[in-house]
Amino acid sequence: MERRDFLHDIGQATVAICAGSLLAACSKSSDNNVTPPPSGGGGNALITANLNSELASVGSSKTSGSVIVIRTATGNVPASFVALSLICTHMQCTVNYDAGAGGFKCPCHGSEYDLNGGVTMGPAPSSLKKYTVAVSNNTLTVR
Ligand code: FES
Repeated sequence: MERRDFLHDIGQATVAICAGSLLAACSKSSDNNVTPPPSGGGGNALITANLNSELASVGSSKTSGSVIVIRTATGNVPASFVALSLICTHMQCTVNYDAGAGGFKCPCHGSEYDLNGGVTMGPAPSSLKKYTVAVSNNTLTVR
């Protein structure tokens, strides 16, 4: 093998090793950053609640992972509840539910949201993500 061919082969091998290492590093990094969806029982439901014993009063809430469901009115119908993500839309801090104030506050940069997840004070650029609430036989399910 001539010197030129040898150097060419070494160069290709080095590129292949580096590319493989970069890909492996990227996949490990992104795998570590994947947040599993929150669970609350009920198959693939994010939250389930027995309305015979939970969420009895207006303003009461139940949280599972980064999802919260809040009773906003009387009656065991979906319209009596709101289910929202607790992840701030600014830079993904977890917001705090303030039942007394009827909304959410982000501890990171001061964004505030109303009870429907709408932004009432920035810098959050958009509303909290809403989830679907269903009620069947006094069992509430958030998906
Ligand atoms: S992350 Fe919530 S206001 Fe910045």
